[in-house]
Amino acid sequence: MKNDILKVLVTEDEIKQICKKLGKEITKDYQGKELVIVGLLKGCNPFMADLIREIDLFLKVDYLSVSSYQGTESTGDVRIRMDLSEPISGKHVLIAEDIVDTGTTITTVKKLLLHRGALSVKIVTLLDKPEGRLMECIPEYIGTVVPNEFVVGYGLDFNEDYRNLPYVGVLKPSAYEK
Ligand code: IMP
Repeated sequence: MKNDILKVLVTEDEIKQICKKLGKEITKDYQGKELVIVGLLKGCNPFMADLIREIDLFLKVDYLSVSSYQGTESTGDVRIRMDLSEPISGKHVLIAEDIVDTGTTITTVKKLLLHRGALSVKIVTLLDKPEGRLMECIPEYIGTVVPNEFVVGYGLDFNEDYRNLPYVGVLKPSAYEK
């Protein structure tokens, strides 16, 4: 699998530092608040696991599974595949994303959670791809910015593969031909 990687964009060590930094900021900003971190499956998985261990607060975790991608293209049509396990009314919600690209997913999910009565909804994303934006949105917490390339690893997939890479990278063109 690792042979398919053309270049590494964010190393394991950089990811560790990012989680530490974001965890500190979130700990400071949510003092005294009832916080629920909502991870967007499946991509949030490794990031969520590492991030929450850097947050020194009582918090709850929940997950939402939405889908808008097929292969390397966003379909622009966000569907809920698996809903939250608890109501989020009256809670402060932090949505945890692997990457914000067109902004369609987080904009839609944010609207939905506010409609359900969340007190506040903010976004923490490991990666931001601002050049891909179709909807205007700025995540409150950003790990790092990546160029407008399709990336895989650390939760991010290409056709469900490569999520288990410990870093974020770009695939060799040959990997798309399999
Ligand atoms: P958006 O709705 O276009 O902002 O896309 C958000 C979702 O699309 C992310 O949660 C990812 O699952 C997926 N996505 C966007 N860009 C990439 C990428 O470069 N690699 C893998 N998945 C991506």
